[in-house]
Amino acid sequence: MTASTTPAGGWPVAIAGLGVRLPDRVVTNDDLAEVLDTSDEWIRTRTGIRQRHVAAPEEATSDLAAAAARDALADAGLEAAALAAVIVATTSPDHAVSATAPLVASALGVAVPAFDLNAACSGFVYALRVASGMVATGDGAVLVVGAETLTRVVDPEDRSVAVLFGDGAGAVVLVPDPDARLGPFVLGADGGGASMLWTASGGTRRPFDAEVLADRSHYLTMRGGDVYRNAVVRMTESAREVLELAELSVGDVDLLVGHQANVRILDAVAARLGLPAQLSQVSLDRHGNTSAASIPLALWDAREQGKLRDGDTVLLAAFGAGATWGACLLTWKER
Ligand code: COA
Repeated sequence: MTASTTPAGGWPVAIAGLGVRLPDRVVTNDDLAEVLDTSDEWIRTRTGIRQRHVAAPEEATSDLAAAAARDALADAGLEAAALAAVIVATTSPDHAVSATAPLVASALGVAVPAFDLNAACSGFVYALRVASGMVATGDGAVLVVGAETLTRVVDPEDRSVAVLFGDGAGAVVLVPDPDARLGPFVLGADGGGASMLWTASGGTRRPFDAEVLADRSHYLTMRGGDVYRNAVVRMTESAREVLELAELSVGDVDLLVGHQANVRILDAVAARLGLPAQLSQVSLDRHGNTSAASIPLALWDAREQGKLRDGDTVLLAAFGAGATWGACLLTWKER
């Protein structure tokens, strides 16, 4: 069941700064084809992915998140001391216990409320929803980071998933702004679909032990076809619902920034919405699927490519493990 959770006009909240961190190491499809039974041609035609960034051994999710956060703060012209809270959307935290966000806040030198939010690939949209409410009700500036090192969670020997994911982080600083809009949001979840995409073991359901190590069930497994079909339906439905709530039509959308999993999913969503494909941002060709980081990385990419102008209406849509999904609108503010 999808629920409407915000005022139809959205919250008066703007993105004051946007920053990213992509690990230095780039792994191309040809690199993967040297160690796996796959090919550049298979990966490109099935997914659109050409390369992905992979974290160095000493880099974890919080390192990428803190670097993206510093970049976003510099972009906003704000000191970390201006932050009221830090939210990290991630499904690949540094530790099972405790959260990654306090590590990020600490790296930034602030002792503000800091917590993780795990809605997998929908995590950034979920975190924007939580943060926008905090900003709009008087908390002050809130940092939202989508950060992942998913290459640590996939089985490097399983070609069906190893080729899909990459590492990275994207961050935004949200501030009150009477001329901007963040929302409305439509979020949804269906735990009945959890086994479509998950790590079956290594949590409290089936703790890590020698048997798990042997059967490799602590690694991510996916029913790709189910994920594909659900992603297209849920992203399209929630995007439509958001536009209806906002009393806008697809013609009012200047850019769709969808979760970057597969270019065929993005194309199918754009086609079902009736949106020209060139108005759908594609960054997965260079980043792979970076889960909660994919939308802020794609937003940053769109800005780098000069595709975001002051006052633009941007539609975000995501689907991920859980299963979770969500969409929202935002007004792009040039600063
Ligand atoms: N290289 C080469 N062949 C591969 C391969 C790889 N990396 N991965 C799988 N294959 C093979 C399969 O073994 C299968 O072979 P078979 O026909 O001999 O059994 C064949 O390719 C087709 O596999 P299939 O899974 O049917 O391919 P597909 O067209 O459905 O594409 C995905 C697979 C994963 C690209 C696609 O299902 C997808 O993108 N799903 C969504 C994934 C996603 O977005 N996940 C994250 C969401 S948040």
